[in-house]
Amino acid sequence: MKKFFITTAIDYANGSPHLGHAYEKVLTDVVARFRRLMGDEVHFLTGLDEHGQKVQQSARAKGVAPQQYVDEIAVEFRNLCARLTISNDDFVRTTEERHKKVVRAILQQLFDKGEIYKAEYKGFYSTRQEQFLQDKDRNPDGSWPEIYGEVSEITEANYFFKLRAYQEWLLEFLKKNEDFVFPRYRQKQVLEFLSEPLNDLCISRPKERLEWGIPLPFDADQVTYVWFDALINYISAVGFGTERFDAHWPAVHVIGKDILKPAHAIYWPCMLMACGVPLPRRLLVHGFWTHKGDKMSKTTGNVVDPLSLIDVFGVDAFRYYVLREMALGQDADFSTDSYHQRYHNELGNNLGNLLNRTVNMISRYRGGIVPPSGAEDTALRRKILEAVEDYRRGMEKLQMHVAVSELWKGLSRTNQYVEETAPWKLAKDPAQAARLDQVLGHLHAAVCLLVSELEALLPATVARALPQLGLATALPGGLAPSWPDTSGCLLGTPEVCFLGLNLP
Ligand code: MSP
Repeated sequence: MKKFFITTAIDYANGSPHLGHAYEKVLTDVVARFRRLMGDEVHFLTGLDEHGQKVQQSARAKGVAPQQYVDEIAVEFRNLCARLTISNDDFVRTTEERHKKVVRAILQQLFDKGEIYKAEYKGFYSTRQEQFLQDKDRNPDGSWPEIYGEVSEITEANYFFKLRAYQEWLLEFLKKNEDFVFPRYRQKQVLEFLSEPLNDLCISRPKERLEWGIPLPFDADQVTYVWFDALINYISAVGFGTERFDAHWPAVHVIGKDILKPAHAIYWPCMLMACGVPLPRRLLVHGFWTHKGDKMSKTTGNVVDPLSLIDVFGVDAFRYYVLREMALGQDADFSTDSYHQRYHNELGNNLGNLLNRTVNMISRYRGGIVPPSGAEDTALRRKILEAVEDYRRGMEKLQMHVAVSELWKGLSRTNQYVEETAPWKLAKDPAQAARLDQVLGHLHAAVCLLVSELEALLPATVARALPQLGLATALPGGLAPSWPDTSGCLLGTPEVCFLGLNLP
């Protein structure tokens, strides 16, 4: 069976992980877990981008060798994945031999085919951004925007990839494949970018200026530069050139909007085309997190640390918040207020109380054994099945925040059912025993259905909720949910702090 291969961007190894990195991993993880539940064989790859000038500089500033520096950062990023309960199957580092050998092979192949050539390059260079700039990058008054830091004019011999030769082909491809980039409006931005002529892509740096990279196989005085190294991780990690590769490729790439164009939507397809490799299945592009309206930055000290949020509220609260708060594709703003609000209202009250009440009432009124529900409360059944279907459809369409809110409508509806039917009143009247059975049976089935759907999003919570509900495993996925018969289930011990969340 062909794998469903999904990747995140590989993070720069020049600082600690932040909210943006954590979000991308959770987003990808939820897609990966959802696909597994739907029956796909998933391969989920994440990793670290460990070469480049900034890494070299950060290592120097710390007074350690670059390899030691990235080894330490790799521990931090792997730890982040573990703390976020990310279900990645692999973690690739660009300093690994399995990666470097593929980079060298591809460079050699393209050089032999005449797709890479050497030329003298003269231009304005930004050390901070590690890139040559063009006149169109200037401010209207001719100065360079602050993001580029110090800009100087330099001349050097470099190798170039014949990117320009692929422009027409790429345009045609994008016009024929409107869903290559998700959301669609991002694909329009790529087309706009392609309305200007492309320059060939500079792929190397002289060793004296950049030591920390992979030497070119055909010129040991030059090392690969940024994208020709980083992008290739997606194929090196799954054994490019072997049968294993064919079982995985093509991938879905999850990336932020800043690295869509030109890197992932232009360089990468052209590089693959030049190597005769099929293009990625899709690019899933998310927006940026700001913090109380400001860009997160080390200098202003407003970077949101995902680990400290997990320490206080638990991992599932973090996963829930980032997925629910950010409309996929658009930017979102982090604030402690909105975090608290979603935590208390949507997780604590809507989900938590519902689960608690259900388990407690069945324990108290029916000795912990789910009664047969008998005659149907069709209105409730319809609403809950609709919520589940809408959730699955939203997830299929990659509209995670919509999907999750649909599921929460199901939770609200079930809470409302409890209020309307008031089982605690029914329990006082022996003549209402059959009705109480029916209500508790429906309530249990509804909660089991909804909680089972949460497995991709809140794995830790679901793992604790299922035994309380008397289920050994979550109810099965698949596109058409059906109403389960959960009568006879023997409930586990109710837990007050069932969510796995640590209340502050
Ligand atoms: N190393 C490159 C990617 C190479 S992929 C072949 C890189 N690294 S990064 O560390 O700067 O960013 C990694 C991912 O995190 C990117 O997809 C980026 O868009 C994302 N984010 C970085 N900051 C972010 C926010 N503030 N908000 C959301 N995502 C952000 O780019």
